[in-house]
Amino acid sequence: METGDPLKMLKEWISASQKTVVLTGAGMSTESGVPDFRSKNGFYAHYDPAEVASVGAIENHYETFHQFYQRRIEDLKKVKPHKGHEILAQWESEGRIHLIATQNIDRLHQLAGNRNVYELHGNIRTFRCARCDHPAGEESFLAGKRCPQCGGPLRPNVVLFGEMLPQEEWRKTVEEASEADLILIIGTSLNVSPFNQIPFYSRGKKALINMEPTLLDDQLDLRVFGKAGEILSQLHSLLLN
Ligand code: APR
Repeated sequence: METGDPLKMLKEWISASQKTVVLTGAGMSTESGVPDFRSKNGFYAHYDPAEVASVGAIENHYETFHQFYQRRIEDLKKVKPHKGHEILAQWESEGRIHLIATQNIDRLHQLAGNRNVYELHGNIRTFRCARCDHPAGEESFLAGKRCPQCGGPLRPNVVLFGEMLPQEEWRKTVEEASEADLILIIGTSLNVSPFNQIPFYSRGKKALINMEPTLLDDQLDLRVFGKAGEILSQLHSLLLN
């Protein structure tokens, strides 16, 4: 772990890095008004992940599953990227960051302008039949309709607990991370594997921007505690000088 002012240290690392891969979680979206999962007022304070975010949820608790995603889809209509998202988009266009691999399903990185984004936990903007994979629309899902092909239940294309991550995006993320000088981890508790293993494919430096410590802090090289939007704004100003 490095000593000295972590913010200034991180600014130097970003400046010097030839290839920076950014990993984000729900803490990247809370300043846009999207709750995270495991903070005290996060989604899992009100919902049991096994009942809303697991494969079994569709078969055993479809009403709770549907309500959970219906609410998130409606809420997302009111949110937009914040300053931190915009800075990451600017950093991509300046070549300061190479790729964002995100656990988030809200597409706020893409809305802010980032093009190199891998959604390793899927997205909540497209839908399919849970039984025959026939594509479905948001309106049909929100209206609680069944699949027109087989009558099965509809679901968003998010990765649920117990499901595989999208293999091509996973392979490419691991490849890029293994060549990165810097892995910048923003707004995640690093609770969920295999996403939380990505930093350790890299021999480069691993830095965290987060509101609170994570499970893997002792394996990271530097930590800056605070709000993602604020820390990224401070880093952005430091990088301009
Ligand atoms: N700035 C920085 N960090 C923040 C902010 C913020 N504005 N708001 C919250 N955080 C931090 C919290 O302190 C917490 O450590 O972000 C982290 C969010 O952790 P989780 O709620 O566990 O979210 P995440 O790590 O993305 O969860 C991973 O779990 O349920 C699954 O699929 C779901 O993708 C999700 C995965």
